[in-house]
Amino acid sequence: MAVIALKCPDIEVVVVDIFEPRIIAWNSDHLPIYEPGLDDVVKQCRGKNLFFSKDVEKHVAEADIVFVSVNTPTKTQGLGAGKAADLAYWESAARMIADVSKTDKIVVEKSTVPVKTAEAIEKILTHNSKGINFQILSNPEFLAEGTAIQDLFNPDRVLIGGRETPEGKKAIQALKDVYAHWVPVERIICTNLWSAELSKLAANAFLAQRISSVNAMSALCEATGADVFQVSHAIGKDTRIGPKFLNASVGFGGSCFQKDILNLVYICECNGLPEVASYWKQVVQVNEYQKTRFVNRMVSSMFNTVSGKKIAILGFAFKKDTGDTRETPAIGVCQGLLGDKAILSIYDPQVSQEQIQRDLSMHKSELDRPPHLQPASPTAIKQVTFVWDAYEAAKGAHGICILTEWDEFKTLDYQKIYDDMQKPAFVFDGRNVVDVDKLRQIGFIVYSIGKPLDAWLKDMPAVA
Ligand code: UDX
Repeated sequence: MAVIALKCPDIEVVVVDIFEPRIIAWNSDHLPIYEPGLDDVVKQCRGKNLFFSKDVEKHVAEADIVFVSVNTPTKTQGLGAGKAADLAYWESAARMIADVSKTDKIVVEKSTVPVKTAEAIEKILTHNSKGINFQILSNPEFLAEGTAIQDLFNPDRVLIGGRETPEGKKAIQALKDVYAHWVPVERIICTNLWSAELSKLAANAFLAQRISSVNAMSALCEATGADVFQVSHAIGKDTRIGPKFLNASVGFGGSCFQKDILNLVYICECNGLPEVASYWKQVVQVNEYQKTRFVNRMVSSMFNTVSGKKIAILGFAFKKDTGDTRETPAIGVCQGLLGDKAILSIYDPQVSQEQIQRDLSMHKSELDRPPHLQPASPTAIKQVTFVWDAYEAAKGAHGICILTEWDEFKTLDYQKIYDDMQKPAFVFDGRNVVDVDKLRQIGFIVYSIGKPLDAWLKDMPAVA
């Protein structure tokens, strides 16, 4: 919305949220999320044509176009639990829009939703419309965190789905006119509602599938002595495959991939397509396997136990340049190590101690709730400490575990770190950021996903 405000000075944008502390933060010098470049954009427009308010009903009533970006977590209870998207927040937003509207509106689905959600939302709006005309559009967002502003400035494509009626086409054109302020029109794709909704799930499923494919290869590389980096490079040169999204890792995280695939799986099952469902389910299962495999490698190489051993966790966010921890593989890895009674010292340049505490102590169903519905103070876990420096985290540790590819981890003084650690000193690189040969020369025993194994690890079983 900030980028729309920046690129369209003639349009007034008001961002509303029922959670007041978040609105206060948006109006302050400390924005509630970390995203490179966002501060600048907000500063340029705030108070001119970009406003943040908790007065939800007033601003919705006044708007011509309403973008709905509420969260749609995976259901944890009832029908479709563990797979289907929970549309409770969407439904209450739609009912509120119907209640307060006095003029015709275009309602835009920005949240990722199951296919055919627009139809349900349309029914809620029209059955409560009091004669007002609502046009529903699907306008899924393809930005990635950490590069959000650049992705929005220069998108590969903008997708707008709507009804194929004259009113539907008019609404599509109105939204197209907004984006056409800065996006070349040939990159604005207009489709029917269902194609737009499904394209979003399909795009995330294809992206996640690439990562699971390369991660599956990483296990085979370790078993055969191939190097996954070389394999990715070689296959990526094929223009049909392409070089992007082929970095083997400890697993993908983020708020979208797993949720959207599970949602896709559920939709396939509901439509009587179990074979298609299980094909996509495997993408999530390989991701789980990759995290478990990583923990098992750690435990088995450290003499089959990490009990009572200090392990430095470098990076907790699900990727670099974000403070977001939703579905971060670090949660599963840390919990695996804590299950084996390790003592963790965690450092991430952007994630707060409180957030990590929440992630490690709260159940997923609690974490998926909006902040004002989450328990106020998470229980502190005794075995975990938080530090603001990688060197401090590694001091006296038996092993280092890199879980986010922050640039600063590439240039640490690993000799200094080695000197301060217990011996043998281990590095487990879940993001392939360190120079393996250099670290081995220093004396570290290094495990880097999908790379030829250290002689030490070759003799250890891959499964603890
Ligand atoms: C993703 C999609 O890219 C974006 O289009 C969509 O709108 C939302 O979901 P995001 O979750 O922000 O964006 O991050 P992305 O860069 O896609 O990374 C997702 C996860 O995959 C991260 O944990 C990342 O570390 C991991 N990843 C990515 C890999 O492990 N290997 C890769 O090669 C690429």
